[in-house]
Amino acid sequence: MAEPDYLAVNLPLWDERVAIHVASDFYDVAGFKAGASSLREFELVEVGAVTGRRLVHLQCHFGLDTLSWARRGADVTGLDFSPKAIEAARTVADDVGLTARFVVADVYDAATVLGETYDIVYTGLGALCWLPDVDRWAKVIADLLEPGGFLYLAEFHPFADTLDETEGRTVTFDYFAEGPQVWDEPDAGSYADPQARVRHTRSIEYAHGLGEVVTALAAAGLRIDFLHEHDYTLWPRFAVLERDGIAYRLPAERPRVPLMYSIRATKPR
Ligand SMILES: C[S@@+](CC[C@H](N)C(=O)[O-])C[C@H]1O[C@@H](n2cnc3c(N)ncnc32)[C@H](O)[C@@H]1O
Repeated sequence: MAEPDYLAVNLPLWDERVAIHVASDFYDVAGFKAGASSLREFELVEVGAVTGRRLVHLQCHFGLDTLSWARRGADVTGLDFSPKAIEAARTVADDVGLTARFVVADVYDAATVLGETYDIVYTGLGALCWLPDVDRWAKVIADLLEPGGFLYLAEFHPFADTLDETEGRTVTFDYFAEGPQVWDEPDAGSYADPQARVRHTRSIEYAHGLGEVVTALAAAGLRIDFLHEHDYTLWPRFAVLERDGIAYRLPAERPRVPLMYSIRATKPR
């Protein structure tokens, strides 16, 4: 079956969400401008020191995480296919006086368009579901990395995607679903502002199991340093989740399931 024109469907959706997200409490741009980091504690621990390291953030949205790495001393590049996102990222960078390179491109063109290599490729938190082919993605990452450099990916766990949205208790969606999934959620707003009125509500997304991701990275020649599974997520994806700082967890009396994962994979020297 021919691949649907997922870029033509998804790009207007993402372009439209940029202004909503910049204005949202979820992203808290004012807090970032006042000095707060948008990075999560587990990412800081798992990535480690970035001072003086060349870091590229794939699917960087409007750049808060990219610029948070810059604040920690990295030499940063952010890449996203949304011109609106990249325009907003450049504005935030200018407003806070941070140096960063922001580039508009499809992630599959990243190695060619950027034309340079990095110590760290950072990505995730809702990135992989927009890409049809994880093998191709993994090859791009290998091309972007210097020998000795590493990929750090933090993602929402594909097992959590199988569970019903209210209780998070019943397996409702197929873990092994292949091919494009067309969603149309006219009343869902955006994850950063569920009340937002949006015109572009249709998206084309792709499920990628954990085995598929790890195998793609290994096939691209990367060595898996760790694969961590986490019992919390970052938004109330099931109505029963309880907030704990920036984390959302199942109630204490419920058996836990993995809600996020993180991988570091190194390109051998
Ligand atoms: C959920 S956001 C990622 C969240 C991000 N980690 C953040 O800062 O919150 C997904 C991003 O992927 C971008 N994107 C989707 N498909 C893409 C593609 N094919 N190439 C490059 N960027 C893409 C979107 O524009 C959006 O900014």
